[in-house]
Amino acid sequence: MSTIVISGSASGIGAATARRFRDAGHRVIGIDLRDGEVAADLSTSQGRSEAVASVLAASGGVIDTLVLCAGLASHVVPATKIVAVNYHGAVALLDGLLPALQKGRSPSAVVVSSVASTQLPWDRNPLGAPLEAGDEARVEAVLAAAGERAGHLAYAGSKNAITVAVRRRVKAWAQAGVRLNTVAPGAVETPLLQAGLADPRYGNAIRDFVAPIPRRAQPEEVAAMIAFLAGPEAAFVHGAQFVVDGGIDAQARPTQF
Ligand SMILES: NC(=O)c1ccc[n+]([C@@H]2O[C@H](COP(=O)([O-])OP(=O)(O)OC[C@H]3O[C@@H](n4cnc5c(N)ncnc54)[C@H](O)[C@@H]3O)[C@@H](O)[C@H]2O)c1
Repeated sequence: MSTIVISGSASGIGAATARRFRDAGHRVIGIDLRDGEVAADLSTSQGRSEAVASVLAASGGVIDTLVLCAGLASHVVPATKIVAVNYHGAVALLDGLLPALQKGRSPSAVVVSSVASTQLPWDRNPLGAPLEAGDEARVEAVLAAAGERAGHLAYAGSKNAITVAVRRRVKAWAQAGVRLNTVAPGAVETPLLQAGLADPRYGNAIRDFVAPIPRRAQPEEVAAMIAFLAGPEAAFVHGAQFVVDGGIDAQARPTQF
């Protein structure tokens, strides 16, 4: 039995991942606003510190797998909250729980980014450098200047920045003996997607986002990739991003990979 920590465990991809690991006989410590083993608000720095402390207490300081699913989509207001959960929520758990992962068996972490991380590449992402530098005033200024586009910018920009944050850690985490990868889903049938579809600003764009495989993923299909990356068959997979998107990234950017 392994100890698996999953953020965003109460819904969607996180819930499907938690079910999959529990069904395989593992112990899951879920982090979410509610309905998890650890209740914490990852949009605040106090909530992030409490989450790390509570997980360390619940796990006895030893974690085998960390899966970060907690996230907010473009329709959430204010846009700064999207960045707070998607970027800072993930980075704080990665860095805060690395020492516990180092004590785990064949330890690994998987971060759920998004195919949106490729829509705003680092050299065009105005949030990337300020997030990396911890320049919150600049992040707020960029989002304030974006007006109507703030939600999409916050989402794509925070997802690009978290994928880069994972890739930046590749050497240090290898030296620590912990593998770290990202999964980049396309459209997945979850409450987050439904809320986006219902939003008058973003609904049509999401409806138009049709993959070559013309359907949306089920959360279990993303959980299957997460379980593979977390497990022993992925022992040499490190610092990589895997799209689970029905071909949408390849269709949009056939020459970039
Ligand atoms: N559904 C999609 O189409 C899609 C596509 C690409 C990427 N993703 C990413 O997948 C991840 C999971 O999304 P989902 O579709 O399963 O969404 P979801 O809304 O079903 O689940 C997200 C979970 O995160 C939790 N969460 C949100 N804010 C939080 C906070 N401040 N503190 C603690 N927990 C918080 C929610 O309570 C919820 O349980 C997200 O990071 C999302 O960006 C989803």
